[in-house]
Amino acid sequence: MAPPKQPSWYTTALEAVHGTNLTGKTSLVTGGNSGIGVETVKALATSGSRVVLTSRSVEAGVKVAEQLKAEGVKGQIKVMQLDLADLASVNKFSKAYKAEECGPDLLILNAGVMACPQTYTKDGFEMQIGTNHFGHFALTKELLPSMKALGTPARIVVVSSMAHEMGAIDLQDLHYRHRAYSSWGAYGQSKLANILFAKQLAKDLEGTNIKAYSLHPGIINTPLTKHVYGGGYLGAAVKTAVGIIGYPWLKSPAQGAATSITAAVSPDLESHSGVYLHDSQIKKPARAAEDMDMAAELWKETERQLADAEKKLSS
Ligand SMILES: NC(=O)c1ccc[n+]([C@@H]2O[C@H](COP(=O)([O-])OP(=O)(O)OC[C@H]3O[C@@H](n4cnc5c(N)ncnc54)[C@H](OP(=O)(O)O)[C@@H]3O)[C@@H](O)[C@H]2O)c1
Repeated sequence: MAPPKQPSWYTTALEAVHGTNLTGKTSLVTGGNSGIGVETVKALATSGSRVVLTSRSVEAGVKVAEQLKAEGVKGQIKVMQLDLADLASVNKFSKAYKAEECGPDLLILNAGVMACPQTYTKDGFEMQIGTNHFGHFALTKELLPSMKALGTPARIVVVSSMAHEMGAIDLQDLHYRHRAYSSWGAYGQSKLANILFAKQLAKDLEGTNIKAYSLHPGIINTPLTKHVYGGGYLGAAVKTAVGIIGYPWLKSPAQGAATSITAAVSPDLESHSGVYLHDSQIKKPARAAEDMDMAAELWKETERQLADAEKKLSS
């Protein structure tokens, strides 16, 4: 397959990984059982990486691994259970991962939940920032030492969204306990947190072999929209209509995964740790996503709240 000259909206994950040899590398993809996660796993495994596919449901993850094998994907895919909305699960997963695997060389923080009703994680975090930010933050902190121990180049890729543009971080009320809940506001806040996390990571890891990036994957028709359509007759009717009419302006999951793959493997990005990407190109995010004072404050507050949650877990 000939690689595209210039990455674009149309580039697929397989095109983005073309010419990259990841033999001997280990990649970890959260939410690898669905949507763009599947295509991310596929591209990484195709280029020779051993891939740890994490999934809330092992059954769903195994189904995807078997389907990719049946399609002829040669790389090894191992499925491990991980629920990012449960700190005990993050801890259990991290312990098992570190006992059995090294690195990873590529950590793809892909899993996410969007615009759900007001609900809370097992540790009492608002579901969207709890899953999309706190869960990934805790996981990264657990895996960073073994990534550093590799002593070879490694990358952390945080899948954010253009929805960060409608988000604002409220450090005093990250979990909507004192303000009216907005499902899109909470999604925007969590996706803004994703970019600030990647930028702070990149800053803290300056001078090391580990680089961090964030990105918007495009607009893709995946199960992510399940809370948008709703569960009733109206939601089902809208979904059916969309299925019939189609969405020509939407990316396919294979196109949606291309920017994650570019962030994970492109040599052009090596000296640009911390950047935000869109359609595999560096893009300036919203001003709030470049506020490094807020990035540092959010980091401190996340650490503080996670430490409190850990204390509760062990008491
Ligand atoms: N689709 C788009 O248009 C779009 C646009 C911008 C950004 N994004 C971002 O792209 C990423 C992937 O989304 P997608 O479109 O591929 O959606 P998707 O098909 O719904 O995939 C989301 C993945 O996250 C997993 N997940 C949700 N809650 C989790 C939890 N508590 N613990 C562990 N995993 C959890 C899901 O697991 P289950 O299968 O068990 O639910 C699924 O594997 C997300 O971060 C999303 O915010 C997507």
